Amino acid sequence: MSNFLDLNKKIDESRQGEVTTIKNKIKGGKKLFLESYGCAMNFSDSEVVASILCDNGYTTTTDEHEADIILINTCSIRDNAENRVRKRLTNFKNRKKRQPGLIVGVLGCMAERLKKTLLEEEQLVDIVAGPDSYRDLPNLIIEVEGGQKAVNVLLSREETYADIAPVRLDKKGVTSFVSITRGCDNMCSFCVVPFTRGRERSRDPKTILKECQQLFDNGYREVTLLGQNVDSYRWNMTSKGEIKDESIPTTNFAELMAIVAEISPDLRIRFSTSHPKDMSDEVLHVIASYENICNYIHLPIQSGNSEVLKRMNRGYTREWYLNRIEAIRNIIPDCAITTDIITGFCDETDEEHADTISIMKEVQWDFAYMYKYSERPKTLAERRFEDNVPEELKGSRLTEVINIQRDNSHIKNKFQIGKVHKVLVEGTSKRSEDFMSGRNDHNTRVIFPKGDFGVCDYVMVKITDCTTATLLGEVEEILKPSK
Ligand code: 5AD
Ligand code: SF4
Repeated sequence: MSNFLDLNKKIDESRQGEVTTIKNKIKGGKKLFLESYGCAMNFSDSEVVASILCDNGYTTTTDEHEADIILINTCSIRDNAENRVRKRLTNFKNRKKRQPGLIVGVLGCMAERLKKTLLEEEQLVDIVAGPDSYRDLPNLIIEVEGGQKAVNVLLSREETYADIAPVRLDKKGVTSFVSITRGCDNMCSFCVVPFTRGRERSRDPKTILKECQQLFDNGYREVTLLGQNVDSYRWNMTSKGEIKDESIPTTNFAELMAIVAEISPDLRIRFSTSHPKDMSDEVLHVIASYENICNYIHLPIQSGNSEVLKRMNRGYTREWYLNRIEAIRNIIPDCAITTDIITGFCDETDEEHADTISIMKEVQWDFAYMYKYSERPKTLAERRFEDNVPEELKGSRLTEVINIQRDNSHIKNKFQIGKVHKVLVEGTSKRSEDFMSGRNDHNTRVIFPKGDFGVCDYVMVKITDCTTATLLGEVEEILKPSK
């Protein structure tokens, strides 16, 4: 550990000159407004961006009207995500007319996907920076201040921002994301992520442990280990499992979770997202053996039909997925499982859709994120198949799926009435000042009256009522911190 700290110090010292020069170039006290769209990874990346720019003389603001620079961290996963960002950028373009000197930049997946179009053809922004180029932002800002437009959309095979201590933008100080992998090698045929976020790479476990320990020391009580595909995390191993460097220990995802869970029994561990083909029994046994690793697995299925899964290039069948569900339920009997479902993928027939409905009834996921298929440029599906399910049919299939899931979620929640749940208190309820809000082990929101406890405490709550999405209850006990 101490070698590792020394190494970090050396990197910091060697960068000192370069950092100071850039700091001097950016005139002090400028305000940065960061807005994030899309997945948790984007929100986590924005904290890396904030860290890089705060190190270079910026301060963050939550008021866009006082900002000198506005950066939008964007998502390309579906067409409507991009449309929302475009509307926002058009607003900012108008603001720029009133506030000359305001710098607007696009970060993340749209930056990578659209590259120069946003800058040149549409003239919406000054900076375009892809997910692997955030260290370059101070230079890009200087280019813009010098009257140029600035782009860096190079993807990297190594960048994990491992040495950067993110600036936490969520000020509650209870829960935090910690990114452990970047990119994705899976090439699901519908997905744009491998093109916008590049090849999969895992972050040095020592830096992950250090970041989690610091969060715990600063009072945080929950970390979510993040990646596009966390269960394929591997350190010092090739994708075939060969050791890269004999002098360094290897670490897989199960081992990484155990290391992080050892920080303290009072630090909750979550992780997202897992891919069914990589969800090993070893991971499940680690979850089962640590009380502080939450019994909650997000395991996207996408479709319940094996032929559709093949067209989606998901690498598993309906039977394989059901086998993983069985393994979860055997190894971790009380585990919440959630999923993602896409309706109306290319060539999806009524019979194939019926298989999604039947698997929903069979598995009874606790919660699901459900989407209509949205064709994305450059993806395998765009090149190989026709987006031939009519919008209306995609929509009616989606409605059917949503209705079944709503019933499943409600039944699951009703089953909790009378049971007692351990809840981490996160803050005041959005609906009422008299109530507090937190989540249980299963990641379900729980609302309960205020009492003699505060944010970051663990409380035992007896569930008295529920809605489809929320549990309501009374605090029975305030837990003391572990020794
Ligand atoms: N259309 C619809 N949904 C998509 N997702 C990813 N790409 C698409 C697309 N082209 C969904 C998948 C994935 C989640 C993050 O977004 O369900 O698991
Ligand atoms: Fe996209 Fe598939 Fe990778 Fe998830 S696993 S990010 S859906 S390519």
